[in-house]
Amino acid sequence: MKVSRADFVISAVSEKQYPNDQLPEIALAGRSNVGKSSFINTLIQRKNLARTSAKPGKTQTLNYYRINEQFYFVDVPGYGYAKVSKQDRQKWANMMENYFEHREVLKAVLLIIDIRHDPTQNDIQMYDYLKYHQLPVIVVATKLDKIAKGKRTKHLQRAINLLELEKEDVMIPFSSQTGEGKNEAWQVVKSFL
Ligand code: GTP
Ligand code: MG
Repeated sequence: MKVSRADFVISAVSEKQYPNDQLPEIALAGRSNVGKSSFINTLIQRKNLARTSAKPGKTQTLNYYRINEQFYFVDVPGYGYAKVSKQDRQKWANMMENYFEHREVLKAVLLIIDIRHDPTQNDIQMYDYLKYHQLPVIVVATKLDKIAKGKRTKHLQRAINLLELEKEDVMIPFSSQTGEGKNEAWQVVKSFL
C-alpha cells in the first residue's frame, strides 16, 4: 500500500477517547519490546512515528495512527514485562479486555512474536484469547534479521506448532530492520479493511 498520510491521533486510556469516525482498526499485540511499534513504522515508512525504545514498556496507552484517512493501526502496550506492578498489570488487563472484546471496528489483530525464541506462555495465552473471542489473528514473526537463514524454517515451524495455529491463520516472517515481509504484511492487512 502506498502510504500518503500517517497521522498520530491519540494516546487513549479509556473508551471515551477512542475515535468515533467508524474507520476500521487493526491492532498490534505482543510481548513488551518485541517490536510492535517498529512494525508500524516499517509499514508506513516513518522512522519514529510510533515511538520505539530499547527499554521494554515504552507503549503504555492505546496509540492510534490514522493511515491514509482509511484505517487505524492501534499500537497497544506489550505484555510480560516483569517490572510492572500488580496494580498496573490489572489496569492493563482491564483496558485490553475492554478494547479487544467490545471494539466493533476492530477487524484483526497482528500478534507479533520474536522469531528467535519459542512463543512464550503469554504469547500462547494471547493467541488463545483472541481466537476465543473470534478475532482474526495475523501472526508476525519479527526480528528475522537476527537468525541465520538456514534456521528460519525450523523456528517458524516451532512457532506454528506451539501456538497450534489454525488453518485460516497466517504467519508472516518479518524484519523491521530489512523490511522483509513488508509487502506480505500489507497484503494481509488490506484484506481485512
Ligand atoms: P513496547 O512498546 O515496550 O511494548 O515495545 P514494542 O513491542 O513496541 O517494541 P519496539 O518497536 O519499541 O522495539 C523494541 C526494540 O527492538 C527496539 O530497540 C527496536 O529497534 C528493536 N527491533 C524491533 N524490530 C526489530 C527487527 O525486526 N530487527 C531488529 N534487529 N531489531 C528490532
Ligand atoms: Mg511499543
